[in-house]
Amino acid sequence: MKITWYGHSAFLLEGKKKTLIDPFITGNPKAPVRLEVINCDIIAVTHGHGDHLGDAVSIAKRSRAPIVAIHEIARYAESQGVEGIGMNMGGAVDVKGIKFSMVQAWHSSGIDAANFGFSGGDPAGFVIEDERIVYHAGDTSLFSDVKLIGELYRPDVAMLPIGDVFTMNPEHAAKAAQWIKAGVVIPMHYNTFPPIEQDPNDFKSLVETICDCEVVICEPGKTIEV
Ligand code: NI
Ligand code: MN
Repeated sequence: MKITWYGHSAFLLEGKKKTLIDPFITGNPKAPVRLEVINCDIIAVTHGHGDHLGDAVSIAKRSRAPIVAIHEIARYAESQGVEGIGMNMGGAVDVKGIKFSMVQAWHSSGIDAANFGFSGGDPAGFVIEDERIVYHAGDTSLFSDVKLIGELYRPDVAMLPIGDVFTMNPEHAAKAAQWIKAGVVIPMHYNTFPPIEQDPNDFKSLVETICDCEVVICEPGKTIEV
């Protein structure tokens, strides 16, 4: 499976289908491509904040892709004229042959795009089963139930925020990596803006000292194969 990072928490997974996660392109200083060149079959949104919901609605319109998200965000998507596939914690849906399971994240989720007038429900993470099993943690603090996510879904790849301030810091994310036991760990949600500056190499050495997984530091716009 191919994975392309668009900076921040935005990834394109290319397996049997193209799944775009948290497509924050407009206003993302690390976005390596123009919005117009991004196409996908499915969009997954972890929560309502602008740096995650991002350009989901406009890409959904252009690509005719449904937005998979928690019930409240799916309803918001529908209010914007695109298909929303709503779900909630602990459940799974099959979308175009790809399985999306929704898992917990400890964070908040007001929809900035709706001028704070619309609750995005609870924030979430996703486990996406395409050619590989990918866990995208969304924005979250460290919580010990990530162990359970590792045990239940056995992800091959884990995408973890390391930026601190709004999410886990590198030390906490390393603990999460140790508990999840994915073979490949990809750091995200760092160096987009000054408050979340981190050196991903420090995270890499930390993780590789305490557990048996490989940390892959992506570069915006570059595609890796897992
Ligand atoms: Ni957030
Ligand atoms: Mn965020």
